[in-house]
Amino acid sequence: MTQARSIPVSLGARSYEVRVGAGLLAEVGLLTAGKARGRTAFLVSDSNLPPSTVALALDSLAKAGFAVHTRSIRAVEAEKSLDTAARLLTDIASCRLDRLDPIIALGGGIVGDVAGFVAAIYRRGVPVIQCPTTLLSMVDASVGGKTGVNLATGTELRKNLVGAFHQPALVIADIATLGSLPEREFRAGLAECVKHGVIAGSAGDLLAWTERSIPGILGRDPGTLIELVERNVHLKAGIVAADEREDDAKDQRALLNLGHTFGHAIETLPGLSPDADPRHAPLHHGEAVALGLVAAAQCAEHLGLGEPGSADRLVGILGRIGLPVRVSGLPGSAEVLGAMRHDKKVLGGRLRLVLPTSEGVRIVEDPPEESVRAGLDAIRA
Ligand code: GLY
Repeated sequence: MTQARSIPVSLGARSYEVRVGAGLLAEVGLLTAGKARGRTAFLVSDSNLPPSTVALALDSLAKAGFAVHTRSIRAVEAEKSLDTAARLLTDIASCRLDRLDPIIALGGGIVGDVAGFVAAIYRRGVPVIQCPTTLLSMVDASVGGKTGVNLATGTELRKNLVGAFHQPALVIADIATLGSLPEREFRAGLAECVKHGVIAGSAGDLLAWTERSIPGILGRDPGTLIELVERNVHLKAGIVAADEREDDAKDQRALLNLGHTFGHAIETLPGLSPDADPRHAPLHHGEAVALGLVAAAQCAEHLGLGEPGSADRLVGILGRIGLPVRVSGLPGSAEVLGAMRHDKKVLGGRLRLVLPTSEGVRIVEDPPEESVRAGLDAIRA
């Protein structure tokens, strides 16, 4: 096995580590036993995972002495709901889990968010072990304790509107699980890595390293993937340690929303696809974030805040990764701006954009509409 890495997330009494390596699922039982005193474990998995992946985790938990109960959920936004959380809670209560018993989340961001939310509210909080199996959840969603579900209001599905901060007891990122990830989903996860690279800016060479490593990353070379996840988790862990709960006074964690206000608005528009083929609609979250990153960089340049040419550099990197940098069928700017104003990151009705400036990534309150339009025009096919 390639040497596993451990990245600390330093949060005082809520500190934990993120383990990254190849083949770690075989150790999930022993690792969990080291973090949770209970003897019953409840594993929530993604119904799309190969059965052998789930079996690996179940065997390991059983060998470590846990009585294991398991449920799978469909990893689609419609299932990330209060109904799913309620069903899981009922099952968990029927299995008589107590306050010391761990919930194990095995899957991508949707599984991690729902299982984490259930762990946050069952008996006012039980330990959760996050075992991300997608690139996006390894580098982003599994770290930092954001949990939650979507809420349907009328015809609108409002993402992550209900939730809680609940830090995991441990994160186990087994990069062997990335072997079965569909190519499009794998590439979509890389949008968050590019976002982290922009946030790191001149403080590190994350973006340059990512750019240099594209062949190894896309070839899913295990050593390169471990380093990719390690570097990205390190970046995110530093931000979470500085601003655990996305505090307005600290305005650190909010920087992780770079590309997301544009991206979330684009993601909610029906019928968009990465290559104009309607069979490939809707856009994946990471694809919308890639478009959002380009729009944010162009918006910053239009405002005179961004380094000239920074949007073009992003277009080059994202394009080499195979992520969309333009999209056809984008509605008029007024409609997209309307959707952006609905984003849950809008505070007091004021649009707040995270923009890459020549002095680093920062929040810009109420940017002029023409600059936002310039950002949107840059991504129109
Ligand atoms: N994904 C952004 C955050 O964890 O804050």
